[in-house]
Amino acid sequence: MYSMQALKTRINKNAPDFKANYEGMQALLKDLDDKLEKSRFQGKEKHIEKAHKLGKMLARERIEVLLDEDSPFMELLPLAGLGGKGFGPGGTTVGGIGIVSGKICMIVSNVGTNKGGSIDYATLMKSLRLGEIAMENRLPMINLVESGGANLPEQEKIFNYGGASFRDITRRSKEGIPTIAVVFGNATAGGAYVPGMSDYTVFVKDNAKVFLAGPPLVKMATNEVVDDESLGGAAMHSRVSGVSDYLAEDELDGLRIAREIIEHLEPVEEKPGYRKAKPSIKSPLYDNEELLGIVSPDIKKPIDAREIIARIVDGSEFHEFKPEYGTTLVTGWAEVHGYRVGIIANNGVLFSESANKGTHFIQLCNRQNTPIIYLQNITGFMVGKAYEEGGIIKDGAKMINAVSNSDVPTITIMIGASYGAGNYAMNGRAYQPRFLFSYPNSKIAVMGPEQLSGVMEMIQRQAAEKAGLEYDKEQAEQMRQYMMMEVEKKSNAMYATGQLWDDGVIDPRDTRNYIGCCLNVVHQNAFSSDNQFGIFRM
Ligand code: COA
Repeated sequence: MYSMQALKTRINKNAPDFKANYEGMQALLKDLDDKLEKSRFQGKEKHIEKAHKLGKMLARERIEVLLDEDSPFMELLPLAGLGGKGFGPGGTTVGGIGIVSGKICMIVSNVGTNKGGSIDYATLMKSLRLGEIAMENRLPMINLVESGGANLPEQEKIFNYGGASFRDITRRSKEGIPTIAVVFGNATAGGAYVPGMSDYTVFVKDNAKVFLAGPPLVKMATNEVVDDESLGGAAMHSRVSGVSDYLAEDELDGLRIAREIIEHLEPVEEKPGYRKAKPSIKSPLYDNEELLGIVSPDIKKPIDAREIIARIVDGSEFHEFKPEYGTTLVTGWAEVHGYRVGIIANNGVLFSESANKGTHFIQLCNRQNTPIIYLQNITGFMVGKAYEEGGIIKDGAKMINAVSNSDVPTITIMIGASYGAGNYAMNGRAYQPRFLFSYPNSKIAVMGPEQLSGVMEMIQRQAAEKAGLEYDKEQAEQMRQYMMMEVEKKSNAMYATGQLWDDGVIDPRDTRNYIGCCLNVVHQNAFSSDNQFGIFRM
């Protein structure tokens, strides 16, 4: 009965709910597209013109040239810093994963034409996260460098943490994961340590200028008068200081050398068995367009997780585990682009049974060394006297324990609500999934705005009563409205991605491809689970 079966859909595309969802999602996707468009800003026209005159490409063009001809580019954190006070969505770097000389690499390209490629706080945090992804997935990093270093007006926010980006280059190197820096323009002060710490460096003739302090600062510090080419030009560093390993004739030559370096790296081992050798990979039976009518901008509307799974997995085939038990959590095995995965998806609030089933399933995936995909749509664990008596805390704790100590790679997709400890049990950001993406309708907070403002109001009323003070109802209502607005604003997907709580907001229709790409990345290296878990509170 429970063999690998194709899921049957129950959706009705003519139902008013489906249509309303579809329309609402179109609006959210339009907003996402507008924001992504803004994130592709590469600087004022005058800076772009100047770059072109110097024979320079723009940051995104360099990536295009670097990648293999048919390579996809999975851009990561494109909206980091959105809504903040920095340089705008995405900051001054473009980061993502693509294929160079047949190998999957992490690529980070400074946007030298926007604010001189200087690093604001969001850009720094984005670079650190990109480095973390490279480390966890053992991806060589190619750094396309052109940066004026820290954004000086906010130096106090950058300076201390900034050191971590240099530390991480060497830590990856120690683990055998190289960084290749190709320097196209200025790399001043902190920026100079990016090539300084890298395993391989390529400097572009005439344009690369790398120094701890530029000519004006040198003059101020020591009174020495020196031009920038003699102080830190590509020729000097390639022939005299040795900071540069390869002197490139021009940008194209620099990118060609980077491709050659990658080509000569140790080949990634072939690990048979992970990907089923199949003549062809079956597409899902149902149109991914329908995902837009299934998920909803109104996250209070329940979503049947199987309808999502049916549009993500190969052939819509799903081998469900414990389908009759703890039914508010759907667990089971499937394949995505030929890779075997375990899926854990919410189908309602978490009860003790569903949490225990999740814990059990995580252990099974670890036994079988199978990556886990979490589809997170959770309002939290069930509350109330009966559930406390039933030990909902210890059952939730078991699931959080299993999530924390699971060794297999995991990917989390936020498809709706993410509230309370449900965020933790379903492998939220703090539980370090290898990748985490959000749908534009998703919401993330300790609880919903109405609940939070209601709880605060109750606490304040009780406090006033205890202190014998008169409770000002009007003021309390104003406060409640304000809190609702704040929570609403700070729990939406766009705020979350601006804060780097995810690796990007994705169009639900692209879910299968994002998961496929991430699975391809995690399978670059062997992983194994030792199946050792901490003590479960039974
Ligand atoms: N912090 C903040 N803004 C910076 C910056 C920095 N470190 N470096 C450059 N910018 C800004 C400029 O204010 C300018 O902004 P605008 O577009 O709003 O006018 C823009 O970046 C371009 O700078 P500009 O000097 O016109 O470009 P350039 O191509 O002639 O020179 C640099 C680029 C990076 C060589 C030069 O700006 C520079 O030397 N910056 C300071 C580098 C430094 O000392 N960093 C120390 C960091 S620890």
